[in-house]
Amino acid sequence: MIVSQLMGPKQQIFLLFLFLQVFAIAAKTDTGDFAVLSALMKDSWKNKPSSWTGGDPCGDKWEGIQCSNSRITDMVLSGQGLAGKLTGDIGNLIALEKLDLSLNKDLTGNLPPTIGNLKNLTYLSVHGCSFSGPIPDTIGSLKQLLYLSLGANNFTGEIPHSFGNLLKLYWLDITDNNISGEIPVSNETSPGLDLLVGIQHFHFGQNELEGTIPPQLFSSKMNLLHVLFDDNRLTGSIPSTITLVRTLEVIKLDRNSLSGVVNLSGLVSLTELYLSNNKLTGPMPDLGDMNRLTYVDMSNNSFDASSIPQWFSSLQSLTTLIMENTLLQGRIPVSLFSSAQLQTIVLSNNKLNGTLDIGTSYSRKLKLIDLQKNDITQFTEVYEYNGALKLQGNPICGKKGLLENYCIVSQQPQVPNSAQRNNCDIACRSNQICSPNCKYAYPITGTLRFLFVSFQDLGDASYYQSLEANLTKTFQSQKLPVDSIRVSDQRRDMHGYLELRLQIFPSGSDRFNRTGFSMITSQLNNFGFFPPLYPFGSFHFILDNNEYFTVHNKSSNIGIIIGASAVGFALLLLLLVALVYAFNQRRKVERASQLRDPFASWDNNGKSGSRPQITGLRCFSFEEIKKSTSNFSDANIIGTGGYGKVYRGILTGGIQVAIKRAEQGSLQGSVEFKTEIELLSMIYHKNLVSLLGFCYEVGEQMLVYEYVSNGSLKDSISGKSGIRLSWERRLKIALDSARGLAYLHDHVNPPIIHRDVKSSNILLDDQLNGKVADFGLSKLLGPSSHVSDNVKGTMGYVDPEYYLTLHSTEKSDVYSFGVIMLELITGRKPIEHGRYIVTVVKMAMDKTKHLYNLQHLILDPTIAFSSTLKGLEKFVDLAMRCVEELRVNRPTMTEVVKEIENILQQACLHSDVEMVSNSNSQHVSSGSSFYSPIINKDQEYSSGSFPYSEIELK
Ligand SMILES: *[C@@H]1O[C@H](CO)[C@@H](O)[C@H](O)[C@H]1NC(C)=O
Ligand SMILES: *[C@@H]1O[C@H](CO)[C@@H](O)[C@H](O)[C@H]1NC(C)=O
Ligand SMILES: *[C@@H]1O[C@H](CO)[C@@H](O)[C@H](O)[C@H]1NC(C)=O
Ligand SMILES: *[C@@H]1O[C@H](CO)[C@@H](O)[C@H](O)[C@H]1NC(C)=O
Ligand SMILES: *[C@@H]1O[C@H](CO)[C@@H](O)[C@H](O)[C@H]1NC(C)=O
Repeated sequence: MIVSQLMGPKQQIFLLFLFLQVFAIAAKTDTGDFAVLSALMKDSWKNKPSSWTGGDPCGDKWEGIQCSNSRITDMVLSGQGLAGKLTGDIGNLIALEKLDLSLNKDLTGNLPPTIGNLKNLTYLSVHGCSFSGPIPDTIGSLKQLLYLSLGANNFTGEIPHSFGNLLKLYWLDITDNNISGEIPVSNETSPGLDLLVGIQHFHFGQNELEGTIPPQLFSSKMNLLHVLFDDNRLTGSIPSTITLVRTLEVIKLDRNSLSGVVNLSGLVSLTELYLSNNKLTGPMPDLGDMNRLTYVDMSNNSFDASSIPQWFSSLQSLTTLIMENTLLQGRIPVSLFSSAQLQTIVLSNNKLNGTLDIGTSYSRKLKLIDLQKNDITQFTEVYEYNGALKLQGNPICGKKGLLENYCIVSQQPQVPNSAQRNNCDIACRSNQICSPNCKYAYPITGTLRFLFVSFQDLGDASYYQSLEANLTKTFQSQKLPVDSIRVSDQRRDMHGYLELRLQIFPSGSDRFNRTGFSMITSQLNNFGFFPPLYPFGSFHFILDNNEYFTVHNKSSNIGIIIGASAVGFALLLLLLVALVYAFNQRRKVERASQLRDPFASWDNNGKSGSRPQITGLRCFSFEEIKKSTSNFSDANIIGTGGYGKVYRGILTGGIQVAIKRAEQGSLQGSVEFKTEIELLSMIYHKNLVSLLGFCYEVGEQMLVYEYVSNGSLKDSISGKSGIRLSWERRLKIALDSARGLAYLHDHVNPPIIHRDVKSSNILLDDQLNGKVADFGLSKLLGPSSHVSDNVKGTMGYVDPEYYLTLHSTEKSDVYSFGVIMLELITGRKPIEHGRYIVTVVKMAMDKTKHLYNLQHLILDPTIAFSSTLKGLEKFVDLAMRCVEELRVNRPTMTEVVKEIENILQQACLHSDVEMVSNSNSQHVSSGSSFYSPIINKDQEYSSGSFPYSEIELK
């Protein structure tokens, strides 16, 4: 037979097995239940699990199905890519206790009313599907229900009164739908939500609920923990009955139209209170007895004008206090900043006045003080305070030359990425991702969207690490096949909800099976499954557009067809043909994936022996990068170099990156490329632009770097970027860059010579810290400590000794760095009008004079007259040593670092203890310049005449 010639013995046995399967008699499953499943699949669902063949769901252990006494009790089909409608047949699976269809975005249509027949149901979730229409009233007859989640669908209509019958319910989530009408409470004839005395969670946010919050909803019998009614259209006042529910931990009523006086006294268990963006009036509520409060936001209400209440400083657990636009006035007490856990204070847009004094016993956890748009006139500077301070829009900012760094409208701070860098080998298998435990696998990926959290500052990596650990531990303790979890890319969405990217890696194998996948995604929307994850609150999980199983399904549909229809010989033949086809296809796919995986040869202990270790970089697919750069649009080009173009990209999750794409001519061999990223991945220093990942596909080599927001030093010196750098800031940038280079020379083994140190390769981040870019794009420094090469460097920066020897050493970088130091002083390009900066400065210098007599013609006018230029002479001396003709006479980068540290320290010593109170003071507070000394040009000198005399007279 042709068939047996085509197939090996294994396939023949498989075929026989399949054949027998087809005729197997439904043994263990109730025939009625099987009929229902068949009907559901036939009429409505596409993409059902591939194991759903034959006629015995219980006996054959169909994925997602669990049975008891031949009846189907559990259907957990979360995140399976099911598509179509849910028909009324579902109502016949009357033994069902758990029904979880969550995260199947292509399930549409109405929820059938027959669902109310599933009287034994305790758990019902359709979270994150696309159901629409009204919520069936009949759900109210599911009296065993403990958990009901209808969130993130498109339901309309009202909350059924019948929900008041669900007396066992502890969790009711309808978040993020289009549900309107009033919150139903009971009367003589109808039940209502007030009857649910055992419930713990009312999650009703992001709907269109209207009317008042009925006072009857709350009573002392209730055991509510969360009342989340945010982002609706609720009116009237917050009923005082809410204070009867002493168990309450989270109240979230922001973004409604609530009015009236707020009384929350006695709610001593409260940990988070969100009341912002309403029309609340009366005195600002006193929360002084709520000692567990961590997060308070009452912004944008119409409370009576008041001074800062004492309780602001007495709450010992408070991390975040947000009171924007609440008519606060008067002085800011020093004690405001002293609560030990405090991280964030936002009191912008109020009428606070007088002197701002943070004092010395301020919370060392403080990351942000936002006092924009107040009437603050004076400021007592605190040098060691490391957080951000925003004072823009205060009278103090009008004063010339003072505090300019706190007074700019700052950009959104760049949020650090918590994704750890791990050791992973280089092999990047098509779309696999390296797990925190260094295994390549296909993770479950998606977004965690927190309904509330108890902190505002996103920068604390330890939160995310403990979240990863806690989630992993919880899954593992439930015997779910989770190896590890990574959260990353933390951001806030447009409504202020915290979102995190989540990757869950499988244990045992490189991908999850359907059952494992479903169990995990199912639990992810069952927040009750997890222990308290403080400081994180409840969340929703949103699955990425998921093609996890679709590839598998294509080859297995045939099995289903056979299972469901009569079998003839013709069909069998068809099957064989299909199988042969499938095998061929698979071989093709394998071949294709080898092509896609340039490093495949390292996998099978190929010629090069052991697989090289590199720290974990992400391997991006070409498609992903293409998408992130809007198809490499010109608008996203942020630079061009010999290597190719540099694009700005925005990854899913909003993280910005810089993508260096090699041009056709500059593609390297795979070995060279691998060596290069291996090298780069080992390097991490805060003053070096770090590599996040790469893309290597046929005809493409790209490196993905962190995005550094404020452009290059060159653009700032030339004025092109609009950023004006003060003298102290220039010193700081010089120090940063020197540290980055010293690291490359002395802390990387083998050392790296940059070979193209220039001001356009020094980038400035959002805090104007310097970061060296473009290193390592050439060969390593060999053991002989010099390398012969043909790298040319850039005109104006090249070590003169290089022309003689054609060898670069670390001292070549020192020379180039010296040129940058001269740029920082003069504001000129290395070669301008045919004159070389090194010569120009040398000629003009007069060491016997103040500032070496450089101030008239040589110094950059931006700095020449604006401050005392403390340490300038030493800086010039150092620069001159760096640009010595002979290498032996130049200092090492490490020596340069030490010197600049000294200069900087002295430059700042004299001013950082001063109180900035006098706008005529000649001393600029340079301690403050560390943060963001962006000086507006117009502010700096009002007319064309520069005040030459100021410094000369000194
Ligand atoms: C529903 O649950 C009850 C109690 O566990 C059980 O006795 C009954 O048989 C179940 N109903 C069905 C249809 O399985
Ligand atoms: C939800 O319904 C509205 C109108 O009822 C429709 O415009 C929208 O596209 C729907 N959204 C989804 C995700 O189905
Ligand atoms: C009770 O509430 C239902 C639903 O809102 C309403 O239709 C009914 O008229 C009310 N009955 C009384 C007596 O108020
Ligand atoms: C600060 O504001 C308060 C209240 O508006 C006012 O009484 C006081 O005079 C102001 N103080 C200063 C120094 O402007
Ligand atoms: C979560 O992790 C932190 C840090 O590892 C730990 O202290 C805490 O107890 C954990 N919480 C739970 C509920 O496991």
